Amino acid sequence: MSLLIGVPKETYPGEKRVATVPDVVEKLVKLGFSVAVQSGAGDAANFGDEAYRAAGAQVIPTAAELWAKSDIVFKVRGPSKEEVGLLREGGKLISFIWPAQNPELMQQLAAKKATVLAIDSLPRTLSRAQKMDALTSQAGVAGYRAVIEAANAFGRFFSGQVTAAGKIPPAKVFIAGAGVAGLAAIGTAASLGAIVRANDTRAEVADQVVSLGGEFVKVDYEEEGSGGGGYAKVMSEGFQAAQREMYAKQAKEVDIIVTTALIPGKPAPKLITADMVRSMKPGSVIVDMAAEQGGNCELTVPHEVTVVNGVTIVGYTDLVSRLSKQSSTLYSNNLLRLAEELCKTKDGIINVNMDDEAIRGLTVVKEGSITWPPPPPKVAAAPAPKAAMPPPPPAHGHGAGAPASAAKVAAMAAVGAILFWLIGTSAPSAFLAHFTVFVLACFVGYMVVWNVTPALHTPLMSVTNAISSIIAIGALIQIAPEVPPGTSRPDELIRWIAVVGIALTSINMFGGFAVTRRMLEMFRK
Ligand code: NAI
Repeated sequence: MSLLIGVPKETYPGEKRVATVPDVVEKLVKLGFSVAVQSGAGDAANFGDEAYRAAGAQVIPTAAELWAKSDIVFKVRGPSKEEVGLLREGGKLISFIWPAQNPELMQQLAAKKATVLAIDSLPRTLSRAQKMDALTSQAGVAGYRAVIEAANAFGRFFSGQVTAAGKIPPAKVFIAGAGVAGLAAIGTAASLGAIVRANDTRAEVADQVVSLGGEFVKVDYEEEGSGGGGYAKVMSEGFQAAQREMYAKQAKEVDIIVTTALIPGKPAPKLITADMVRSMKPGSVIVDMAAEQGGNCELTVPHEVTVVNGVTIVGYTDLVSRLSKQSSTLYSNNLLRLAEELCKTKDGIINVNMDDEAIRGLTVVKEGSITWPPPPPKVAAAPAPKAAMPPPPPAHGHGAGAPASAAKVAAMAAVGAILFWLIGTSAPSAFLAHFTVFVLACFVGYMVVWNVTPALHTPLMSVTNAISSIIAIGALIQIAPEVPPGTSRPDELIRWIAVVGIALTSINMFGGFAVTRRMLEMFRK
């Protein structure tokens, strides 16, 4: 029997997201599931009951009824104590859980004999898991919104302009921490026209900062900040002092600071001191995305907007919820991808396969037993040392590899030569000329393709596509005012066809070069 997925209304104060949007309901139904939604669950994200009904979901009036009916519950926030009470004995739940921070909740869920998949526990380094990575999708939304909040509190334009009423300098934005949220903030601020600078302790993100239109500002101190798995480590005292010095200089120069620095499981590093805030120009803005973990700025008040010395400090902890339609859509797509992984048979029945590394990482409670933390990820065994070089083949004797393959090449060359001689003597001379061009083209094509890195094969294809428009020359000859001696003028119809041919090949030619240029641009640093 296919399972029923239930989507309750979120109960956490101020939470506007919903775990499944109508578009995803349709896709879940195609996977064989039935879907039930609590009435009003999507209201705050602009998805009304009617839209859910139209997508094939049942709408259930109360939370109690919905939880009781559901075989699997899809939620955004971890369940409250009351909600755990409503969960069916042996029921299944997929939501954010944060098992390390919520041991009590884990015990309550285990007592219910539940199976719980914590979307925050996905092993993020698995590339196959990216489509299910809700932390990334939600942090991207938060980074975008942080810049929008900054723009809202800032009294000027982001982009520089020259107007009749005077010259407006572009806003300068500094992003502290270039993880997922930080990179989204860099892209957003740059697209609004600001001058964007960013810093992170992990040097590896410098290229990403630049590719999004920012400038990476280095701390003048040699220390690698990567703690493995894409996360940072706590830095040495010496580094921190050098970093403070650089941040103090930036604070005096920039108009907006967005802080996103975080080390998992640690309080947020205090990067912006009270003195730095006071040194900023009046009208400047700080958006402290780490407010919930204690804040990257000493003066942040979580959940609030405060003004110190004319500097606005935004400490909102619900940035994702402030774009609830977007974040709900992305989150429910993450859950849909997870549902596809759980239900490969497309019959509405799930298999929590603990041998699958992604599913294993996500599963924090399995049928009442706590399975968190998962075993450390399987590290690929070190490549076996290369076998010692084989002894050189004996100079004489049978069975030696090299002489045999040399003989093969010689035999092939001989067969080729004989074939060419036969074609050369028997084929008409016109054929021979074309055949020579064909063989040369094959050779040049082979050399070009094999000598270009595979990553550049797509731009190569588009440029060869553009070059293939050389056929335009044929059409040009047809409409040329002078015809080569000995040939007759083509009739009017052919000339018009040639005109159309030239128009079409021009699109191919210019389009091909334009696409190639855009593609190559993506590879340029
Ligand atoms: P992430 O782990 O991808 O990025 C954090 C970045 O900070 C990493 O690149 C890390 O290298 C860097 N970092 C750590 N210590 C640093 C230091 N001392 N100096 C400079 N950089 C340092 O995390 P993600 O997903 O980008 O989230 C960033 C922050 O935004 C977190 O605090 C998260 O809780 C918060 N957040 C806030 C939301 C809100 O509504 N306010 C919503 C979503 C995320």
